[in-house]
Amino acid sequence: MGKKGREVVEKAGVKVDELIEMLKKAYADEWIAFYYYTLLAKIVKGFESPAIASKIEEIAKEELEHQDELADRIIQLGGEPPRRFEDLVKIANCPYVKVPENVGDLKAVVKAIIEAEGCAIEVYNKILNWLMSIKNDPVTFHIIRHILQEEVEHEDLFETILGE
Ligand SMILES: [Fe+2]
Ligand SMILES: [Fe+2]
Repeated sequence: MGKKGREVVEKAGVKVDELIEMLKKAYADEWIAFYYYTLLAKIVKGFESPAIASKIEEIAKEELEHQDELADRIIQLGGEPPRRFEDLVKIANCPYVKVPENVGDLKAVVKAIIEAEGCAIEVYNKILNWLMSIKNDPVTFHIIRHILQEEVEHEDLFETILGE
């Protein structure tokens, strides 16, 4: 735990435990996105699937980085990420990605990813607004702003692929 790091945030009037709960839910979302994207990259089929799979792998790596950044911040604030893997699904804001029945339907695969990214964007936007309203935790603000930016890029990338 970053003792002084938590203290300055607390002294600034931030409800740190409430913040930690929000970060833990987002942390769960990142693991779930990483899992589903890694799975999708492996099971997609069809002529265009290698190109799509490599793009999915790229964003999966970024989701894994996001969970790492969130875990570090949770610990710095005096919290701890869930010890039981099954709790991740229970607490997640976005607990699954709609894997299409037919993974050769690349449009449906891309749409499922866009939907998942939309859920992430909503979550980070909400946390960022909360942080803006309290104005007193620039460290978490910076992390969430950075993650939100990447989620917006993910959505945009797959919207471009979808071409609609
Ligand atoms: Fe993410
Ligand atoms: Fe993402």
